[in-house]
Amino acid sequence: MEIEVSSSMHLMYVSEIQQEMYDSAQRRGTGIAKRSIEYLSKKISEGNAVVATENGEWMGFCYIETWSHGQFVANSGLIVSPKFRHGGIATLIKDRVFALSREKFPNAKIFGLTTGLAVMKINSDLGYKPVIYS
Ligand SMILES: CC(C)(COP(=O)(O)OP(=O)(O)OC[C@H]1O[C@@H](n2cnc3c(N)ncnc32)[C@H](O)[C@@H]1OP(=O)(O)O)[C@@H](O)C(=O)NCCC(=O)NCCS
Repeated sequence: MEIEVSSSMHLMYVSEIQQEMYDSAQRRGTGIAKRSIEYLSKKISEGNAVVATENGEWMGFCYIETWSHGQFVANSGLIVSPKFRHGGIATLIKDRVFALSREKFPNAKIFGLTTGLAVMKINSDLGYKPVIYS
């Protein structure tokens, strides 16, 4: 398994990532907006995402979003391909994307927005503290 900072060589996975994000959001009934191919492609080619693959097959993804000129950084859009779930991949991706956020934005406050219990658990295991939306 490889967990890498994204680059244009990962653009081949973008439609699969977008579709799986959309399908999981539908299944969970969260009303999360569909991310466009253009938006996800930009994250990937600018190196603002982490991609997990194995033998050329896509396994998981997460990207970095910034606000207020990089003062606030969120790790967003975490998704693991259904056939690779429950193997710890989401935890490894979150760990890598946190390190990437620190490298790129050393002074930022880093947070994650989540609607899911699994992600709450991953985040608290990694040492994140819960805060309210505002
Ligand atoms: C949520 C998701 C990213 C987890 O990926 P994963 O690779 O299976 O997660 P991990 O194997 O790293 O699991 C981490 C922990 O979460 C728990 N967990 C995983 N899926 C869970 C679920 N559906 N409900 C409750 N807990 C769950 C695991 O048991 C594990 O806990 P443990 O360390 O005590 O065993 C994946 O299920 C997914 O892509 N879901 C759809 C999209 C989604 O919900 N994204 C988050 C939007 S905020």
